[in-house]
Amino acid sequence: YLDEHEFETIQIDQHGPLAVLSVNRPKALNALSAQTFGEISEAIDLIMDNAEIGALIVTGAGDKAFVAGADITELAALDGVYAGREASLAGQDVMHQLSSLPIPVIAAINGYALGGGLELALACDIRVASAGARLGLPEVTLGLLPGYGGTQRLSRLIGVGRALDLMLTARQVGAEEALQLGLVNYVADNALSKAREIAETMLRHGPIALSLVKEAVRRGMDASLEGGLEVEADLFGMAMSTQDFKEGTAAFLGKRRPEFKGE
Ligand code: CAA
Repeated sequence: YLDEHEFETIQIDQHGPLAVLSVNRPKALNALSAQTFGEISEAIDLIMDNAEIGALIVTGAGDKAFVAGADITELAALDGVYAGREASLAGQDVMHQLSSLPIPVIAAINGYALGGGLELALACDIRVASAGARLGLPEVTLGLLPGYGGTQRLSRLIGVGRALDLMLTARQVGAEEALQLGLVNYVADNALSKAREIAETMLRHGPIALSLVKEAVRRGMDASLEGGLEVEADLFGMAMSTQDFKEGTAAFLGKRRPEFKGE
């Protein structure tokens, strides 16, 4: 089981097919250190290797922060073009690993999601914010820019104008404004329980279909409309060759609940 693995700065809990990854560095408001990135990456590999896991929630331990950004103490020790570029690429790599998972990934934003913390949430498929959450990309206040995918993912998610506003002002937005901006999908009193509820809904669906939806959307983001439509048709063909498709349609016609096996 996943929860048998020992980590120092993150925690993983497994509830049947649902994994919950909590960033856990209470002294630094769950800021992402190099060690944390390493552990998140290791956890993603474990999740990839565990066929039982059908959905992942990413959250922050405690009730104050999701993740308050990259670890500024570690950043401050870096110097120069090469070190900065490498740090950015290393962070981007872990975010990419997360966003490429073939299962639904939900960010439960239970407090501050700033800088690298918001970038972590942006690498998830959907975002749920607690009513008191604060979100923002304050990197320019440190003389930096978002370096873990934020400049790209935020613009794609909420549009260039809104993304530039948030990045150039460095202002924090609350949950309701984040919802209005399309930055989060849901606001709830308890982000984690809402995320679990959403995960449970997704877990009822065919796992191959879920992974193909993600793949079609992801590949389409980098393609022309025509190219994206071709990808969609190819993946639709793949879906139709699965047992899950046979089961889903048979269950509908038989007026019963489907039992998907992921085959
Ligand atoms: N890195 C390291 N330590 C951090 C941290 C971070 N990102 N954020 C908070 N902490 C530490 C604080 O230094 C403090 O430590 P001490 O108790 O040892 O002093 C502890 O966590 C508690 O924080 P505060 O006392 O500041 O708590 P607060 O309630 O007054 O403020 C906050 C909360 C507004 C989130 C504030 O902590 C803050 O502004 N944090 C930094 C946010 C930020 O700028 N993040 C972007 C980082 S840059 C980035 O992410 C780069 C990138 O994209 C590549």
